[in-house]
Formats: sequence, C-alpha cells, structure tokens
Amino acid sequence: MSLPGNANRDNFGSKFGILAAAAGSAVGLGNVWKFPYVTGQNGGGAFLLIYLACVLLLGVSVMLSEFSIGRRGQRNVFGSFKSLAPNTPWYFAGIMGVVAAFVILSFYSAVAGWTLEYIVHSVDGSFHSGEPLSNAFNNFITHPVRPILWQLVFMALTALIVVGGVKNGIEKYNKILMPLLVIFLLILCVRAITLPNSVEGLKFLFTPDFSKITAKTVLFAMGQAFFSLSLGMGALITYSSYFKKTENLGITAINVSIADTVIAVLSGVVIFPAVFAFHIEPSAGPSLVFITLPEIFRQMPLGSIFGFIFFALLAVAALTSTVSLLEVVVAYFSEEFKITRKKSIIITIIFASILGVFASLSFGPLSSVLIFKKSIFDLLDFVASNVLLPLGGLLIVIFVGWYMTKRDVRDEVSNGGTLNVPFFPYFRFIVRFIAPVAIAAIFIYSIFYGSLG
Ligand code: PHE
Repeated sequence: MSLPGNANRDNFGSKFGILAAAAGSAVGLGNVWKFPYVTGQNGGGAFLLIYLACVLLLGVSVMLSEFSIGRRGQRNVFGSFKSLAPNTPWYFAGIMGVVAAFVILSFYSAVAGWTLEYIVHSVDGSFHSGEPLSNAFNNFITHPVRPILWQLVFMALTALIVVGGVKNGIEKYNKILMPLLVIFLLILCVRAITLPNSVEGLKFLFTPDFSKITAKTVLFAMGQAFFSLSLGMGALITYSSYFKKTENLGITAINVSIADTVIAVLSGVVIFPAVFAFHIEPSAGPSLVFITLPEIFRQMPLGSIFGFIFFALLAVAALTSTVSLLEVVVAYFSEEFKITRKKSIIITIIFASILGVFASLSFGPLSSVLIFKKSIFDLLDFVASNVLLPLGGLLIVIFVGWYMTKRDVRDEVSNGGTLNVPFFPYFRFIVRFIAPVAIAAIFIYSIFYGSLG
C-alpha cells in the first residue's frame, strides 16, 4: 500500500494546476533563451534530433523517478529522502538539491532581471535610438546598479507568488501565467513564419545534418535536456510531494516533458526564421536573444509590440521557474526547522539576493574577480549545472533504480495497483541501467571540459 498522504500539508487542487506548475518549472530561460542558442551553435536540426532522443529516452524516466520520490516521501526534497531511507546518508542527495536550487535561484534571477529591462526597452524606443544594440546590452549588464535593481524586483515577484502557498500561490499563478505564455508564443510563431525567407530558418532547425553530430553534441543535448526539464535538483520532487495520491505520475511526466519540448521547439520556430530573414548568424551564442533579436525587432514593422511580447514571454517563463526554485528551499526550511513559510521565504530571498548581486556584478564591476578562471556568474552556473544537477540526477536514478524496492516503485507509479502501468519494465530498465551510465558520462565530461553551455 502507498503511504497515507499528509493531511496537514498544502496540496495542488487540480490536474491542470499540477501540469501548469510542473511545466512552469520546466519551461524557462532554458527553453526560450538557452535552447535556441545552443541549437544554433550545434548545427540546428542535428542537435534537435539528439535532444529529442535524450528527452524521450532519459528525461521522462528521470522525471518519473523524481515524482515517485516526492509523492511517496510527502516532504521537501531533504525530508523525502529521509522518510524513504531513514538512518542512511541518502538525505545528502536532498541537501544537494536544496543547495542547487539556492545557487540556481541566485544567478538565474540575474538573467531573469534582464528580461524586465528589455520589456521596458522594447516600448520606450531604445531599440530604435541608433545606438548599436550590442553596446546597449553591454552597457546595461556591466552597469553597477540597474541589473541589480531588476534582479531584486524579480526576486520580490517570485516571493510574492510563493508566499501564497501551494494552492493559492504557486498553482494559482501558474494557471494564469502558463496559458499566457502559450498565447504569447503562438502570436510570435505566426509572426516569425510569415516573415520573408522564414523557410530558411525552419530548414536550419528541422533538417538534420548528421555530419554535425559528435560526442560533444550528444553530451550538450543531454545536459540541456536535464536543465530544461528541471531535473536533478529536487524542484519536481518538491512539487510532486504536493500531488494528490490519485494523480497519474507516468502521464504527468510525459505531459510535462512534451510541453517543455514543444515550447523549446516553438521558441526555435520564433527565433530562427527571424534570424534568417534578417541575415544574421544563428550561432551568436548567449547574446542571441538580447542583441540579435532586438536588432530584428528594430527592423520589423510593429517591432515594439512584438519585442514587448517576446520579452514578456521570457519574463513569464523565468518567473514560473524561479518560483519552483524558491519553493525547494522554502519547503526545506519551513518543514525541517519548523519556521513559518513567510520567515523562510524572507531568509531565502535575502541570502539568494546577496549571492545573486555578486553574480550580477560579475558582468561589470566584479568582472576581474576570477575563481578557477571563471567569473562569479559562470562559476555558480558551472557548479549548479555541471556538478550539482548531474550528480543529483545520478543519485535520484540510483535511489529509484537500486535502493527503493521494485514493489515500492511500482506501487507508487501505479497508485497502489489501481493504474495500469505497461511501461513499467521499460522505465525500470532505463532507471537502473541506461540513465546512470548516461548521466555519469555527462558528469565526467562536463567536469573535464568546463561548460556544457
Ligand atoms: N527548467 C528551467 C529552465 O528551463 C530551469 C530550472 C532548472 C528550473 C532546475 C528549476 C530547476 O529554464
């Protein structure tokens, strides 16, 4: 039998709320900012194909593992490991998740803050001022105050949502923001596809050139899939601890993975036709959406409106992700140290903002501070994305594949035997054999080669 739910805990109220919140966590800067530029740098269609394979083969199973731990554990990420594996050091995996969430929140909010500045720029005419857009971008991110102010605004918005709790905060806002995000994205897709020469962009994204596939492409794709699906650090463990015992975990994992992937691909459909229509290089890298796209909005009729919609889309995507990051830390503090959620939110926000300010300043005044040859921002990103997430993911699949009994995992995935789970043997095989090897490969590679982008 599955363990009884904890009646004192807040829970998600509806299926749609669960989907919106979990997809909200997954869909973020990783989809709209990182996916297009990583795809652009790695050969377009070939990368997309490998990426899809990674999501399908690994992503869905790792996500289902996280859901199984969270819903069975019924506590925050640390507490869930503790309740499923008492008197063992497995809780260490949970602590790592909390640390990863905290670190990601601190640097992710810096880039998230940029989106707010760019929402303002798209309507105040700055894109049309004649100043080269790369200068504008560099002047902004190296400014000692402006990016920090936006970062703090972004933190505050995140806190305002999380303070409402699971049902009246996280669920409520995701149910509004996620449909809004889809509407913004569809408007932009129609605009992009109807641009002259859009076919070139679509060809770049959808025609695989197999000669471009190398071991590096595969590892990049896997790293990107993990980050994009919010795997490896307990965001989905925390959220699923609030799922109903009747929720179908397998279907939810599939739906969230599909939503995340479709939104990443549609972001590519927005960006590449625009890039090709205006004869710009698709491999611009991280500046693709902050320099290249504004250039396009500058040249496009009604560009201010489309610019506004694009950066609002980016901000919404980032916000629903920072909400899930903050919740990981807040659930941990409030449940394990028995302090109120409000207090834990305030404490977390203060400390994440302090670290975040250093991350932000490392683009400007602190750019000469290098630790292991990396700026503070890059170091935080590296530690979280290249060390903590893969290690967390590895521990999660080993936990579900090897520590938990087959009976318990099946019991959780099938809701105590009430659901048909024909995929179970396949899932278990991946979690026991394929995923640990693949994740260990990403991990080792990314340690040796620095950054997975
Ligand atoms: N998945 C988010 C994105 O694609 C980032 C994220 C990672 C959010 C891990 C929560 C946890 O932007």
